[in-house]
Amino acid sequence: MCGIIGYAGPRKTSNVLLEGLRRLEYRGYDSAGIAVGGGANPSGQLRIVKSVGKISALKAAIPPDVDGVWGIGHTRWATHGGVTQTNAHPHTDNSGKIAVVHNGIIENHVALKTMLQKKGCVFKTETDSEVIPHLIAQYYKGDLLEAVKAAVQNLEGTYGIACIHADEPGRIVGARNGSPLIVGVGAGEIFLASDITAMVAYTDKVVYLNDGELVDLTPDSYSILDRDEQKVERPMNQITWELGSIEKGDFPCYMEKEIFEQPESIARALSGRIDMENATAKLGGLNLDRSRLLNVGRVKIIAAGTSWHAGLVGSYLLEQVARIPAQAELASEIRYKNPVVEKDSLWFTVSQSGETADSLFAMREVQRKGATVLGICNVVGSTIARESDGGIYVHSGPEIAVASTKAFTSQLAAFYLFTLLSARMRHMSREEGQRFAASLQSVPDLVAQTLKTRDLVQRIAKKYCRAANFLFLGRGILYPIALEGALKLKEISYIHAEGCSAGEMKHGPIALISPEVPSVFLVSDDYLREKTISNIREIKARGGPVIAVGVYGDSETENLVDAFIPVPKMDPRFYPFAMIVPLQLFAYFCALELGRDVDQPRNLAKSVTVE
Ligand code: AGP
Repeated sequence: MCGIIGYAGPRKTSNVLLEGLRRLEYRGYDSAGIAVGGGANPSGQLRIVKSVGKISALKAAIPPDVDGVWGIGHTRWATHGGVTQTNAHPHTDNSGKIAVVHNGIIENHVALKTMLQKKGCVFKTETDSEVIPHLIAQYYKGDLLEAVKAAVQNLEGTYGIACIHADEPGRIVGARNGSPLIVGVGAGEIFLASDITAMVAYTDKVVYLNDGELVDLTPDSYSILDRDEQKVERPMNQITWELGSIEKGDFPCYMEKEIFEQPESIARALSGRIDMENATAKLGGLNLDRSRLLNVGRVKIIAAGTSWHAGLVGSYLLEQVARIPAQAELASEIRYKNPVVEKDSLWFTVSQSGETADSLFAMREVQRKGATVLGICNVVGSTIARESDGGIYVHSGPEIAVASTKAFTSQLAAFYLFTLLSARMRHMSREEGQRFAASLQSVPDLVAQTLKTRDLVQRIAKKYCRAANFLFLGRGILYPIALEGALKLKEISYIHAEGCSAGEMKHGPIALISPEVPSVFLVSDDYLREKTISNIREIKARGGPVIAVGVYGDSETENLVDAFIPVPKMDPRFYPFAMIVPLQLFAYFCALELGRDVDQPRNLAKSVTVE
């Protein structure tokens, strides 16, 4: 949550900050602000502009004369204090010379505020973050780094911070604990941001900070200090993202673009990882030797939201195909469950961003208990990717829309690869492995074919989008897809939707059925087909409208339901890839029809870095 950026260099600072914030907007978008100093501004003073709403509102609020040679910016997802201009960052100390932007939560802010008020500090906002500039001011004796160093000793909670002082032009000091912070290094210019996307237009050289570290920046230098205040020599990383990959191109929304990118993004996740000859998968980053892999007796998966749904699919697949007991756990639950880590268990943390606080903290908890944890992440260099013991990058490319789509199908690809590898090490024959590998290889094509249902799905969405409630139902490996379909619809259209196991329907949810409540069924052509069709009949008998995503040519289902969306026939174990696509499109077109902000739905943020 919240995006922060700092910049020092020769460019028009306010423009760089605004552009960076625009790219970070997916992290939070209720208010925003910048602080700049130097240039034509009076020396020894910072200019601060804040506004409620999106970055476009901030842009409109910045007077043309607000520029400078260095500055910081913030886009907010409110945690403590309402959405007001006053509560927007940057926050300052009482002199107005120290400005701070913060991402995270200061858990001991009440105690700190009381202590600082006793010392005469006057607070202007309701935020937890405002204690930070006041604390820094208490320690400031002409050296911002020294003051920040002392101030952060008092902070409990999570933070990614960027600070500037009006009397130290060109200097930015950052600190990180639990919230991401990345330095971008240009020629004679420096960036500090929560995410690479904020600076990818200017530099491809980045340095990742770890928890407990401080960084001291000038346009020509970066210097990192670890927890023990020792200088850290950390080389730069070259990033390979292209600017085009974070632009919308010809699509009206990032979400539509990302849905349509799935044939390529899945192909990238699979690229070079299927060994057809030996009918297995090559996963170089696992960092596990063969005997460790062979002795895995149980797989546990930690994740949140859509990534948890991918983990659920993974758990079905690993049990059914690799015959390894597997369980997907909600990160926010398992962290406080005092989880049992069995000696032969292998853990995964699945996270698009690699920064989700619930997932990161749960992962650290099981690592403390001795677990080996592999990451399935999209963002290269993210905290989960760096702190896990090995893993699989899914290579979806930047996912900007808050609703996750292409990252989900790439996470599925990672689980299918791992399942192939594990099954082939156990009971799976070469012939069976080749069939599985061939099916996996054909997924990008099958998803491309499924995308052709776009216009049909749009028409169906137009017809049903005024319903106030939806049920999404599936069985077996399609049950997580029903959950994911419901989540997509909820988060971007604000229509209440419940994902449900079709078999579980008669145990309660069926009470909701009426002509006003449509059900969306996922109908495979496997051993569960007949049972799912019986469940559809039960709904129809009670007057409930039914939309079905089924297999091309399944006329029995098509004739039974009110609307039918066909996907190509395939090995039934692979339907999760195809059947999620019409559900993504359905949510998208419902949201469009209802005039919602598809890419930035209310109350949400892309990267949830608070608990
Ligand atoms: C997905 O559409 C959601 N916005 C959300 O559930 C997301 O999947 C969840 O917050 C986990 O994020 P992560 O994959 O970055 O860890």
